[in-house]
Amino acid sequence: MESLHQALKIAFASEFAFYLKAHYFHWNVEGPLFSQMHDLFGKIYEEVYGSIDAFAENIRKTGAYTPGSFTRFSALSSIDDETAVLPAEAMVAELLQDSEKMSEMFRIVFRAAEELGLHGLSDFLAGRQNAHDKHSWMLRSTLK
Ligand SMILES: [Fe+2]
Repeated sequence: MESLHQALKIAFASEFAFYLKAHYFHWNVEGPLFSQMHDLFGKIYEEVYGSIDAFAENIRKTGAYTPGSFTRFSALSSIDDETAVLPAEAMVAELLQDSEKMSEMFRIVFRAAEELGLHGLSDFLAGRQNAHDKHSWMLRSTLK
């Protein structure tokens, strides 16, 4: 259970960092495809943000406390922070890489939840993997 708690906190902090990056790109994207990119990043950050509260509550259901500060998020997150304003295509490429990383993280944590018979939790984690697979597909298609 201890290793599941740690893996969940890392995935949660990473998901929050991913959300923040997508929102940051939504605010700052520029270029001839501004409108499409602004909307694409908008759809992604809204979907991910919409999962954050349920994610935190799923962590609480396992008995662990949920991190919720920049200090803890930055210590736990596996998603690299972005402080530069990148060209639009580089934003898409970076968010794609991060989304694929999130899918992989959820694939692994899902197994840990399943091993403990926490089917409600694993169902939630499978949903997050599926959501990131969709985000990755949209980002990948944008780059072609
Ligand atoms: Fe907006």
